Amino acid sequence: MVLAVSVIERISTIRYRISPMSYEEVLGFHAKPTTGLKALPPVLEARGISRVFDQVGERLTVLDSVSFSVEAGHSVAIVGPSGSGKTTLLGLCAGLDVPSSGDVLIDGTSISRCTDRERAALRNRKVGFVFQNFQLIPHLTALENVRIPLDLRGERSAASDARGWLERMGLSKRMHSLPGELSGGELQRVALARAFIGRPRILFADEPTGNLDDTTSDHIVHELFEINRATRTTLVIVTHDMGIARLADRTLHLKHGRLVE
Ligand SMILES: Nc1ncnc2c1ncn2[C@@H]1O[C@H](COP(=O)(O)OP(=O)(O)OP(=O)(O)O)[C@@H](O)[C@H]1O
Ligand SMILES: [Mg+2]
Repeated sequence: MVLAVSVIERISTIRYRISPMSYEEVLGFHAKPTTGLKALPPVLEARGISRVFDQVGERLTVLDSVSFSVEAGHSVAIVGPSGSGKTTLLGLCAGLDVPSSGDVLIDGTSISRCTDRERAALRNRKVGFVFQNFQLIPHLTALENVRIPLDLRGERSAASDARGWLERMGLSKRMHSLPGELSGGELQRVALARAFIGRPRILFADEPTGNLDDTTSDHIVHELFEINRATRTTLVIVTHDMGIARLADRTLHLKHGRLVE
């Protein structure tokens, strides 16, 4: 179960066609106006988190006392040089890893105080993760991959919701294809559907456009921010692209494992 849940959060993206049905309709709820969001408690809070790796003969401090919080519905870009700790930070904030010291609160729940099983359940309920390299399960069809988060919760609407998301992504004719039969763009759309089907409170995306051409990248970015706006899904995105970072409400700069202004 833990393995299955962790697989779920590995997600990717690509452009998909805009259909007449809005994201609110697809997800079954409606966006609230952005006014008043500031009054809400943070959906994500990093409290002085550090991550240290003990290696033969040395201790490597990859993150050093990082603190920040993100309010519900907001978007945050994390930028910084290669090796500055962006992926490590994203993994900690998503509950895929635990900090060496400090704490992460996802929607008010401390991940340090959770057991592995509780943390997996928290991820299933609250988190979507978009990985650069898709991470779809190779022997499952597109439809079967997308429905997993809801299957794990025992939701009866898993199949119909998955079909709805794949249709929204322009993949109605590819639902029964295996990942090996899909193009890179199609794989990313399947992965994005799987990230959003569980109606996550927070979507984490680690350089989701890193290996895409400019046009495809533009479409993905547009759709990510559109879903963020329409459904109030909080968006935390790691990117090297300052053009993408400028679209976010806020940018965090990491350097040598510390946040810098
Ligand atoms: N499990 C691990 N064990 C030891 N060192 C690690 C581990 N994970 C990450 N690191 C080290 O931590 C540092 C930061 O890695 P991280 O992947 O977070 O960087 P990044 O900012 O995402 O880089 P990039 O932009 O290249 O993706 C690197 O020096 C990396 O080698
Ligand atoms: Mg990285």
